[in-house]
Parts: sequence; C-alpha cells; structure tokens
Amino acid sequence: MAQKGNYPGLQLDTGKQIYTAACAACHGRDGKGTAESIAGFKKPDSFPDFTRCDQTTAEMDVDWKAVVVHGGPFRGFSQIMPSFGEALRYDQIDKVIQYLRGFCTDPHWPRAELNLPRALVTEKAYPEDEVANTTIFNTQGAPGITNEIVYEQRFGVKNQIEVTVPFTFQDQNHTWYGGIGDSAVGLKREIFSSLRTGSIFSLDGEVGFPTGNKARGLGTGVTTFETFAAYGQLLPANFFLQFQGGADLPTHTDVAPQSLFWNTVVGQNFAQNKGLGRLWSPMVEVLANRDLTTGAKTDWDVLPQFEVTLSKRQHIRADVGVRIPATNTAGRQVQVLFYVLWDWQDGKLTEGW
Ligand code: HEC
Repeated sequence: MAQKGNYPGLQLDTGKQIYTAACAACHGRDGKGTAESIAGFKKPDSFPDFTRCDQTTAEMDVDWKAVVVHGGPFRGFSQIMPSFGEALRYDQIDKVIQYLRGFCTDPHWPRAELNLPRALVTEKAYPEDEVANTTIFNTQGAPGITNEIVYEQRFGVKNQIEVTVPFTFQDQNHTWYGGIGDSAVGLKREIFSSLRTGSIFSLDGEVGFPTGNKARGLGTGVTTFETFAAYGQLLPANFFLQFQGGADLPTHTDVAPQSLFWNTVVGQNFAQNKGLGRLWSPMVEVLANRDLTTGAKTDWDVLPQFEVTLSKRQHIRADVGVRIPATNTAGRQVQVLFYVLWDWQDGKLTEGW
C-alpha cells in the first residue's frame, strides 16, 4: 500500500498538483465547481465557488482544514465532500488550502481569521452577517430582564449595517412592566485589516431612537448619536485582544449627559479535536464609562465569560458571563449576561448540527 500522501506515478508536492489530482473532479479546475452532469452528484446549496471572495473569505483556513481532513459531515456539510485525512498528509492539506485561497483574487476582503469571538459588551471590528440575542438579568435589587436582539448584515467588501432592539421587563414596586427600549441603527466600516499583522480596525456610527418609555425607565427619551472605533488583534498562542472606544452623544444634554466609553477584552481560543473541532473561548472584558459632566467619576466593570460553539458548523454560539461593578458600586448591580448568536450566512438554524 502507498504511504500516506505518496502515490507512485503521481506528483503531489504543490497545492496545484494536489488540487488537480484530488479535488478538481468535483470542484473544477477553475474552483467554481464541475457541472452536475459531469460530477455526477446534486450540488448542495452551500457548495462553494472558490472564486467568490464573499463566500470564501468568511471561512477560516482551519474551518476548511476540518472539512478536508474529516469530510463534510464533520462540520455538518454533505457527505459527498470526502475526508482526506487518510490519503493526504497535513502539510499537503495546508498547501491545497493555500491554493484554494488563490481563487479569490481581490485582497481587500477582510479574512475570517480576524473575526474574533464576540464578547458580551465590547463590539468587534469585523463586519458580520449575524443575529445575536443577548439576555441580561439583574441579580440584586428589583428583578429585571433585558433582551436585546441585534441584526447585522454585511454589504460591499467592508461594510455592515446593524439594527438593535431591546425589550425590558422590570418589577417596579411589585408590578411587572415590559416594553421596547431605545432601538438603534448603525453602520460599520472596516478601515484596515491585515492577516499578516493579525489586525483589524473599524469605525462605526449609530443613531439611537427614543422608542423606550422614559417614564417607565425603559428609555432615555432622547435621540442619541454614538460613534466608536473598534480594533482587534491576534496574539501568539491563540490569545486575542479587542478594544472599542467611543462616545454617546445625546441630542439634548439636559435630558441625558454625553459620555465616553472604552471597552477591552482579552481571550484565548481552545479548539477540540486537535484544533479542528468545537471552539471554547474564555474571555475577560474590562469596561469603562464616564459621563462628560463636571465631577463625574468613571464606572469600571469586569466581565469574565466564556463563549462556546454549539453547532458542528460553528455558526450557532453561546456566551455567558457575569458583569461585576468594580468602582462606584452604589446603585450599580451585578448582572448575568448571556447570548446566543447565529451566523446566518453560514447556514440555516436547523443546518450544520
Ligand atoms: C466527490 C466530490 C468532491 C471531492 C473529490 C472534493 N470535494 Fe470538497 N466539497 C464537495 C462538496 C459536494 C462540497 C459541499 C458540501 C456542502 O456544502 O454540504 C464540498 C465542500 C468543500 C469545502 C467547503 C467547506 C465550507 O466550509 O464551505 C472545501 C474547503 C472543500 N470542499 C475542499 C476540498 C478539497 C481541498 C478537496 C481535495 C483535496 C476536495 N474538496 C475534494 C465535493 C468534493
């Protein structure tokens, strides 16, 4: 029997040679996929066209490697995509993945490696196609729950729009009040990203509308502009850092003060199955907020948490953490935060398990 990765009479040294021998029959020499009549199978909707940068740059090399080593079903894809873990060596698989990357010829798309885990509060720099539902529970004082739904959609190479709608339920003197809070619409644009340096930088502008009932404590009662910068950095040993700093600028400062915020998160990724399986990401956020009024002090909070991928596809994830006020603790509560997110571009809710 041939030794793994060595086949008498076959050159399998370069990515192109490996691709031509092992992949082109189904994926086509041009990376767009072989015609169904020739390939002999019905293409799943998620069948990749490797020349489409919008489809390929949203996937990490390691996501592709997981599928090539273990086959489609390992990430909840079709079993027509075979596993090559027995036929090819890891260095050959890495080479063929680099070859696949060459099919997307526009270098401006930010690479998925820079799409760091989403923290509970700090906003990430990477533009997303995502729906996240965050739930916030008060652990002290009057019981209360806030549910915040964020819908994010990319457009163009570097942009994303985002709509946020919170719902709050509060016990106010033993009567529960519920309702919509202040909703917001935002626009994010990636300004700089580089896989070589492992960095990504974005700017974001948002408008918050006074849709929440102020008298009930569900809203600020004023239109607010928010602007921030977000930065992400890959670090050695699968550590990462994210920073978000900006300002909340209400249109009537007599109703609500202007404020500055700066949020930092440090975390590390651990993937099961030799780096190809379920991803666990413990993180700690340090959150700061200061009203721009004379004599105001900065509120500092710490928020330890961990995120985990739930689906095999890794497009459904959850994160849970505890937000602990560290300074100016009077009147500020410990809160439990929890989100479930769905990267809808990567598959339906029911797919990929
Ligand atoms: C027998 C046909 C066949 C062969 C041979 C084949 N593939 Fe695939 N591949 C598929 C199909 C079908 C899918 C789509 C699976 C789906 O979307 O459910 C796929 C999907 C993929 C994906 C996309 C996974 C994702 O995250 O979207 C990658 C990457 C991939 N193949 C790489 C390769 C490489 C590299 C080779 C050669 C070493 C190869 N394939 C050989 C049929 C094949």
